[in-house]
Amino acid sequence: MKKILGIVTSILMVMMLAACGSNKNELVMATNAEFPPYEYHEGDAIVGIDVEICKAIAEEMGKTLVIEDMQFDSVITSVQTGKADLGAAGLTVTEDRLKNINFSESYATAAQVIIVPTGSDIASPDDLEGKRIGVQLGTTGDIYAEDIADATIERYNKGFEAVQALLQGKIDAVIIDNEPAKVYVEQNPDTLIIVDEAFTYEEYAIAISKENTQLLDDVNAAIKKLKESGKLDEIVNKYISADN
Ligand code: ARG
Repeated sequence: MKKILGIVTSILMVMMLAACGSNKNELVMATNAEFPPYEYHEGDAIVGIDVEICKAIAEEMGKTLVIEDMQFDSVITSVQTGKADLGAAGLTVTEDRLKNINFSESYATAAQVIIVPTGSDIASPDDLEGKRIGVQLGTTGDIYAEDIADATIERYNKGFEAVQALLQGKIDAVIIDNEPAKVYVEQNPDTLIIVDEAFTYEEYAIAISKENTQLLDDVNAAIKKLKESGKLDEIVNKYISADN
């Protein structure tokens, strides 16, 4: 009996070790795949710039990337609580977020822009006063919209839903990142335009737990390599054409 227990225990231990080992070989990326061209669904797959950058980072580190798709406002929390290793979701570096997590080196510059229906009287950020503005919940667009005098903010789970509401005339404008804005406006070229003057300029980076400084170093080293080798540009150019 003792012998059998011993064998069972050894088998269990080997299984546990194997489980730990495989986890260690994974790099879990938290994202919200509602943000083309950075992360979006293509059939059953999640693809985009962030996905490819993180795959390349994982490869540099000898690990396999695992993608966890979730609500945008859960991405940073999941990194903070250790459920995910990386938060990669077109995340803008902000002072407030830096209180809770670390950010890697920046890998892209971006802007918050304003989408309006053609013929709108909104021609600059100042014209947003008193308007009904749609944003994706928890994004920098949401945070900045709060400072607009007398504006009504409508918060949606997906940027796409804000654009739908704009098309239906339920809101007057959408504040969203420039690249997804281009994608949504291209889908509705006769009805939507992007206001020339941007709302803000920002930097995207990868979120990493404050506890995990080794991972921060590894990710930064990988990003540096990807920049130097031209691989980062290659990924970006695959999704964003230079002429738009
Ligand atoms: N850059 C904005 C922010 O960090 C929006 C990012 C939205 N990303 C997404 N995957 N839905 O708040």
